[in-house]
Amino acid sequence: MKTCIIFYSYSGVTRSVAESLAASCGADLIEIHAKKPYSKLTAYTVGCMRARRGDADPIDRETIDVSPYDLVVIGTPVWAFRAAPPVNAATAALSGCNGKKAVLFATCGGKAGDTIEELKKTLIGKGLRITGDITFTKKDLDEDLKAGELAALVKAAEQA
Ligand SMILES: Cc1cc2nc3c(=O)[nH]c(=O)nc-3n(C[C@H](O)[C@H](O)[C@H](O)COP(=O)(O)O)c2cc1C
Repeated sequence: MKTCIIFYSYSGVTRSVAESLAASCGADLIEIHAKKPYSKLTAYTVGCMRARRGDADPIDRETIDVSPYDLVVIGTPVWAFRAAPPVNAATAALSGCNGKKAVLFATCGGKAGDTIEELKKTLIGKGLRITGDITFTKKDLDEDLKAGELAALVKAAEQA
């Protein structure tokens, strides 16, 4: 079973979750970078507006071919209750998704809004089968409240 973890991280939180997961389940990490990185100011102004609209930012890859993988994990930070715009670009760039399993995770300050539901709709549209999702708030991560739950979702998906 081959698994990849596709993620974007603005300030390191989502990256840290992705890296721990990769270490525990031996997945490949695919980090997405925005071609034009956000500053603190532009993240909260332009970035939030683009996130609300579901816009996709230019990113450092045109396609992300997941055909070598059996399971695709996608991680996003929450921006204005939605996925961050570079993640929208990553989902648009996915190819080879048909019938593959997927697990989603989001990290947020405390309120994720529609992030997972919207992401799910997009990914189902790409042909992925979502087998699990989890959202981590800052409290969850600071207090280690959901330790192991993401890895358990991945394990369950790998065995399904
Ligand atoms: C532009 C911006 C918008 C954000 N919007 C939300 C939000 O709507 N809800 C929330 O709970 N946290 C929000 N946050 C907090 C982040 O989702 C949270 O800190 C996340 O874990 C950061 O992940 P990262 O370090 O991988 O970028 C926002 C952060 C930024 C920079």
